[in-house]
Amino acid sequence: MIKKFKFGTPFETDAVVKSIPLESSSLPYFETDTTEGLKFTLPLSKEDAVYGLGESVRGINKRGYIYRSFCSDDPNQTEGTHSLYGAHNFIVISTKDKTFGVFFDCPSTVTFDIAFTYYDKLVISSDNTNMYVYIIDGDSIYDIIREFRIAIGMSYIPPMWAFGYTQSRWSYADRDSVRNVVKGYRDLDIPLDAVYLDIDYMERYKDFTVDEKAFGDLKVFADEMKAENIRLVPIIDAGVKIEEGYDVYEEGIKNNYFCTDKDGKPFEACVWPGMTHFPDFLNPEARLWFGEKYKILTDMGIEGFWNDMNEPAIFYSQKSVDNALKLIKEYAKEDTLTLQGFEDIKNYFGSRQNCDEDYSSIYHNTPQGKYCHKDVHNLFGYNMTRSAAAGLLKADPDKRFLLFSRASYIGMHRYSGIWTGDNFSWWSHILTELKVLPGLNMCGFLYVGADLGGFGYDCSRDLLLRWLSLGIFTPLMRNHAACATRNQECYQFEKPEDFKHIIDLRYRLIPYLYSEYMKAAKNGEMMFKPLAFEYPDDLVAKCTEDQLIVGNEIMIAPVYTQNALGRYVYLPEDMTAVRMQGGELTFTDMKKGHHFVEIPENEVVFFIRSDKAIPLCNPAKCVEELDLNTLELIGNGKEYVLYTDDGFAKDYDNPENLKTLKKQ
Ligand code: GLC
Repeated sequence: MIKKFKFGTPFETDAVVKSIPLESSSLPYFETDTTEGLKFTLPLSKEDAVYGLGESVRGINKRGYIYRSFCSDDPNQTEGTHSLYGAHNFIVISTKDKTFGVFFDCPSTVTFDIAFTYYDKLVISSDNTNMYVYIIDGDSIYDIIREFRIAIGMSYIPPMWAFGYTQSRWSYADRDSVRNVVKGYRDLDIPLDAVYLDIDYMERYKDFTVDEKAFGDLKVFADEMKAENIRLVPIIDAGVKIEEGYDVYEEGIKNNYFCTDKDGKPFEACVWPGMTHFPDFLNPEARLWFGEKYKILTDMGIEGFWNDMNEPAIFYSQKSVDNALKLIKEYAKEDTLTLQGFEDIKNYFGSRQNCDEDYSSIYHNTPQGKYCHKDVHNLFGYNMTRSAAAGLLKADPDKRFLLFSRASYIGMHRYSGIWTGDNFSWWSHILTELKVLPGLNMCGFLYVGADLGGFGYDCSRDLLLRWLSLGIFTPLMRNHAACATRNQECYQFEKPEDFKHIIDLRYRLIPYLYSEYMKAAKNGEMMFKPLAFEYPDDLVAKCTEDQLIVGNEIMIAPVYTQNALGRYVYLPEDMTAVRMQGGELTFTDMKKGHHFVEIPENEVVFFIRSDKAIPLCNPAKCVEELDLNTLELIGNGKEYVLYTDDGFAKDYDNPENLKTLKKQ
C-alpha cells in the first residue's frame, strides 16, 4: 500500500510513474515541523534499523550518521563523506512493531540524520518546503520494496553482452592502444567484451566528435573491434565546449538550449574541455536535441555509452575566476602578502570546485517554470541520461544499448545503470562496494558496479584479484583506472592465469546472473540482498554486513583485507561451498553456523543455499560465444527456473523465456 502526501508545490520529478491519489490526511508515523523548511522526526529505539539511501557510504543499516542527498563530484568515498554521486531518498525503517518505507521526492538537498545527533531519533530535513512524500506499508521488507519499485517503474535492462568483463582506462588514446588491450586479453585467453573510450577519443573533449588522428574513421575501427566481439563504449560529458564553428555549441546557443545565469545568458563553467555550457536537460526540447546527438556515434556502430560529469561537475566558473582575480588584485596592493591574505586566496581558490555559489547561479527553463539549479540539482544527471535513452530509442527502437551514468536520482533507473564513480585502489573500497549494492537495488538501480581495482592510486595484484572476486557477481563488471596510475589490465600482472580463472568463472555464471537480474527487474526484486532481509529472525545474520545473498540461490562472502588467507563466514543455513581452484570447481556441504574458510587470493569461494541449484555454462572468450544451451546444474537442489532470451531483443515478457531446468 503506497500513499502520497504533498507539501507546498513540488517540482514534478517523474521519479514515480504509477498514478497515486493524494492523501488529504497528515503524514503518518512522523512528527512534521514546517517552521523552518521541512522537518520530519521519528523516534527510534535501539534495535530499530534504517535501510536504503542508495549510493551512500557506511553500513547497510544506515544508523549512526548524517547523509546528505546531493549529487556530488567527490571521489573521497570515505566514512567522513556525506554525499556521493547519486541522490536516492528512499529508506525502509524496520522497528519491532512496524516496518515501512518512505520516499522523499525532492530534487534539492535532503538531510537524513539517522540517530546521529540524537541517538533515539531519525530526523529528515530540507530547506525545500516543496516535496512529495510517499509512505509504503507492507507485510515484509520485500513487499515494501516491491511496492515502491512498481511505483517507480521497471529497471533498465542492458544487452546481455554488457554482462561480460570490460576494460577501461583514462585513456586509451588511440586505436593501437585499444588493439593492444584486446590483444593482451585475447592472447592469454582471458574473456573480454568491451573496451571503454575515455575523454581522449574526442577532438579536444567535444561531445559527439572523434579525434580522427588517433581513431581514424571510428566506424571502421568499431567494425574491426566488433569482428573480434569487442564493443567500444565511449564517454559523453555533460559540458559542451564553447567553440565557434562547433555545431553542438552553435545549435545550443541558437535555440537557447543551455542553462543560463540569472540574466538569461548561457552559464559558463570550466570542465575537461575548458569553458563549457551545460545543456538544459530539464527543458524537454533541449533534452530531445542532445539525446538525438548520440545517433552520430550509433551510426558509427557504437552500442554503449557512459555519461559523466553530470552532477554537473564544475571545476570553476567564469564568475569565480573574476572574483579570484579581484581578490588577488586587492591583496597585490600591499607590499607583502600577509598570512591572512595567503589563507584567503588559498581558501577562495580551493573552494571554487562544485561550489554552492555556482549551483545557485544556474537557471533552468522547465515546463514547470524557471528554476534555480540549486532547487533541482539532483535531477541533472538523471535527465542527461534520460535524454540519451530517448535518443537511443529513437535511433534504434528495437535495440538494447548499454548505458550508465555517474550522477543519478530515482527515476533514472528506468533508463540506465550507474557506476559508483571515482574510488581508490584501497582495500576498504571493496567493502564499500559490497555494502552499497543492496541500497542501490532497493532504489531500482540494478545494473551497477564500481571501478574494479580502484580508479585513483596504484592497484596491487592481490587487490585486483580480490576485487574481481566480488566484481564477478556485479552486473557491470568494469576494470577502470585514472590517468597516471599503474597499468591495471589483468595481463599487466604476473601469473595472469589467476585472473583468467576468476573471469572465466564470471562467464560460467552469466546464465545465472542474467536470469536473476531479469527476474529482479521484472518482479521489482533485489538482486543483492542483505542477510538481514533474508533471515530477519537470525540475530547474527542481521548483524552481518560483509556477506550478501545474490539472486535467490547463492551467498557471497568476499575477502576485503590484504594478506588474509581466508575469512570468517557465517552460514545462516546449511549451504554448499563452491570453490574455484585453478579453474576447477569443488563442492563441500557445510553446516549452518560460523566457519573460517580458507580462500587463497587466486581462488573464489561462494555458497549455494540448501535445496537450491544454479546453472553454469562453459566459459568463452566473450558473451556471444557462450553456449547457453549446454547448462549444468550445481548445488543440492533439483531444479532452477531460468530466465533466458537472446540478449538483444526486448521481448522480456515472452513466456518462452522462462524454462525449468531439472537435474538428470
Ligand atoms: C571522471 C570520471 C572518470 C573518468 C574521468 C576522465 O573523473 O569519474 O571515470 O575517467 O573523469 O574522463
